[in-house]
Amino acid sequence: MAAFAPSPQSNNISGEQNDSNLPTGRGWMSEHLVQYQGFWLSPKGLKNLMWLQDHFNPRPTDIFLASLPKTGTTWLKALVFATVNRTRHGFSDHPLLTTNPHDCCPFLDAYLHENDPSFLDQNGSPTPRLLSTHVPYALLPDSMTVNRSCRFVYIYRDPKDVLVSKWHFLSNLRPKELPPFPLEEAFELFCQGISHYGPYWDHVLGFWKASLEFPEKILFLKYEDLKEEPFVGVKRLGEFLGYPFSLQEERDGVVEDIVKLCCFENLRNLEVNRTSVHKFSRDSMCMVDNRHFFRKGIVGDWKNCLTAEMIKRLDGITSHKLIASGLLFHN
Ligand code: A3P
Repeated sequence: MAAFAPSPQSNNISGEQNDSNLPTGRGWMSEHLVQYQGFWLSPKGLKNLMWLQDHFNPRPTDIFLASLPKTGTTWLKALVFATVNRTRHGFSDHPLLTTNPHDCCPFLDAYLHENDPSFLDQNGSPTPRLLSTHVPYALLPDSMTVNRSCRFVYIYRDPKDVLVSKWHFLSNLRPKELPPFPLEEAFELFCQGISHYGPYWDHVLGFWKASLEFPEKILFLKYEDLKEEPFVGVKRLGEFLGYPFSLQEERDGVVEDIVKLCCFENLRNLEVNRTSVHKFSRDSMCMVDNRHFFRKGIVGDWKNCLTAEMIKRLDGITSHKLIASGLLFHN
């Protein structure tokens, strides 16, 4: 990796510097996590972040989809892609029928870490660019947050479902030679905040507060609300992103078409999402079977997995951390 000067924000850590001075925590996969400015990142995630802070030049029209892992990122990518590009693609031969949502809306920091920012201009993505990130709001470069014309859509989800979803997801990806990773261990780490891009609550609160301050710039969505009222959610997305649905489009059922195209059952059963593989970054070996992005897609699977004691402890942390913020979760 090329050396580069640290930005003022990057606390003197550059992409080339090692992270040995930072506190470490147990990793969910084989690697450990490092704590950087209050958030837990994988060593690779930290390098990606440094690259993002030092090199990314947003365009005023960029749309960023921000989330914590397992909060509904894949679904949001599909919904935003379908909404913004609805006049470009017919529903019978739509790109989402043959392309995984992650390939329609790349992870910004992962691609930049490949040392080829020009990729973002080469991938044929028309304006606006749809880019996603798990980076906490406080760690995003000023170029993204101070520039008022870029928009963010943030999705969050009940942390109990996030924990369960993440544990299943990473158990699938965990190298077979490693010992099993019991849910109890994942639970303990999650409660301590030691989880990729966590603590969960700090990540959510960062975007929540920013959305209150800049409501025209950050749309804050809840997975559970989208499940309950997907039509309302899609219309809000269109309105917020500057692509409002016309009355004629509503009469023609365009909102319904987007909801149906992007619904869990439809996406999960597509050939591309049953059999193909997603590469998280262009050259890396980090590959994930697309099917792992589609597990159950329901609200409240935690009831099948967590003990009463776990539920009580996690709900207690959530109430304690979010009590003053006005954010609510389903129980
Ligand atoms: P479960 O593991 O609870 O099923 P992410 O995309 O951020 O990695 O989140 C993955 C979670 O979103 C998984 O949750 C997955 O099943 C669910 N999901 C994926 N696509 C979805 C869709 N179209 N509608 C609803 N949920 C979806």
